[in-house]
Amino acid sequence: MTLILIGFMGSGKSTVAGVLSENYVDLDLEIVRKIGMPIAQFFEKFGEAEFRVVEHQVFSELIDSGGVIATGGGIVESPENRELLALQSEVVYLKANFSSLWQRINADKKNVRPLAQNGAEIVEKLYEKRKKSYQGLADLTVEVADKSPEEIAQIIFDWQKGQKE
Ligand code: S3P
Repeated sequence: MTLILIGFMGSGKSTVAGVLSENYVDLDLEIVRKIGMPIAQFFEKFGEAEFRVVEHQVFSELIDSGGVIATGGGIVESPENRELLALQSEVVYLKANFSSLWQRINADKKNVRPLAQNGAEIVEKLYEKRKKSYQGLADLTVEVADKSPEEIAQIIFDWQKGQKE
């Protein structure tokens, strides 16, 4: 079984995945490896729709890897990915309110997120649009705003243990 972390930009998917497993797969990094350029540059050259095609390709190749996958916030944009996610039973949604996510997105200077360059109002609309998909696809939802990555990982570990009992 593969544990898949979903949630909006800034929700800490990669950080939490790193606590859950030192061998976790970071979908964005795998995409960068495949396209041979930073995601922001790919968006500029080829646009978002082409990015979603590659994202789906890479995701479908890795979804049965059996480890932990940190997805990108837009994984729920494509109907094909939503179908894949609906078939999984360990999809964990890292949930937070928009203002704490926006703060985290802006504090993260290392990660240039093309869709986060649009200003708070537009990004909040995207958040509102995606919220239902994240929630609807989640087998477990963890509120992350007031928790450390270690606390979040512990909640997920405990839930997984309960699932197996
Ligand atoms: C995206 C989120 C990013 C990355 C790309 C698109 C999105 O991942 O996949 O910039 O559409 O929300 P993170 O959620 O890891 O920032």
